[in-house]
Amino acid sequence: MGRASRKSNQPTMAEKADRHELYEASVQDVEVEIDFLDETYEAIRGRKARRFREDFCGTASAACEWVRRRPDNEATGIDLDRPTLDWGIDHRVSRLSADQQLRVRLLQQDVREVSAPQADIVGAFNFSYFTFRTRDALRGYFENVRSGLAEDGVFFLDAFGGSEAISEMKEKTELDGFTYVWHQAHYEPVTAFMRCHIHFHFDDGSKLNKAFTYEWRHWTLPEIQELLLEAGFAKATVYWEGTDEDGEGNGVYEPEPHGEADPAWIAYIVAER
Ligand SMILES: C[S@@+](CC[C@H](N)C(=O)[O-])C[C@H]1O[C@@H](n2cnc3c(N)ncnc32)[C@H](O)[C@@H]1O
Repeated sequence: MGRASRKSNQPTMAEKADRHELYEASVQDVEVEIDFLDETYEAIRGRKARRFREDFCGTASAACEWVRRRPDNEATGIDLDRPTLDWGIDHRVSRLSADQQLRVRLLQQDVREVSAPQADIVGAFNFSYFTFRTRDALRGYFENVRSGLAEDGVFFLDAFGGSEAISEMKEKTELDGFTYVWHQAHYEPVTAFMRCHIHFHFDDGSKLNKAFTYEWRHWTLPEIQELLLEAGFAKATVYWEGTDEDGEGNGVYEPEPHGEADPAWIAYIVAER
């Protein structure tokens, strides 16, 4: 917690803040995420997906969005962290209708060990699988995902890269009522190990430092695609973001075999079982 001036022992903005709400407002847009999964699955398989498994689900917001989409959609969220799952139950699942709540199941388990019901789609977002730092560990996770997919199932991941991704830096983004700070604190070229933090700063000068910390291996797209194929996936395709007339990202992702040397890109990888 940072220093802040106080008046009459009022709690600071940082003390009043909820780090999960701030996280979601900063780095998650589950409507856009689920649109991409839903539309891409239908484009590949020619039918709508029904069963979604959200790996590293955290607060399970994407799982909740999935069951809101159609009355027969079902979702399973998997995360190791009990307090985060409980927050999701209290703040996200509880907002669903009674019928929608019946179609979401949350499991406190390791995504490498879980044996969840067969899914049409498995999603792993916000680079969470970067937590696996050896080829064996990442391939083992991918094998578990594949065995949890239906025969025509599809696995969706995201990845980030570019020259800025492997530098030590802080990026501040002003959002509604607070500043989101992405901090790449430590990067090792020999191992591709990186330690990153999310901090939140507030207008009263208070701070939530290290609200979230990640210790990751920075995987490259060819490594990820190779490991998906080694794990048995039939095909792994990178979807790259298009640009508008000003050269800015337009939010439309299409299959792309080469990409370009953007200093800070985010891409999806779509792996067909
Ligand atoms: C970066 S958050 C992702 C939250 C959300 N899914 C998103 O897209 O923003 C990573 C989550 O992965 C969970 N996690 C880390 N290792 C895990 C593992 N081996 N199995 C299951 N969950 C894990 C953490 O508890 C944390 O909630």
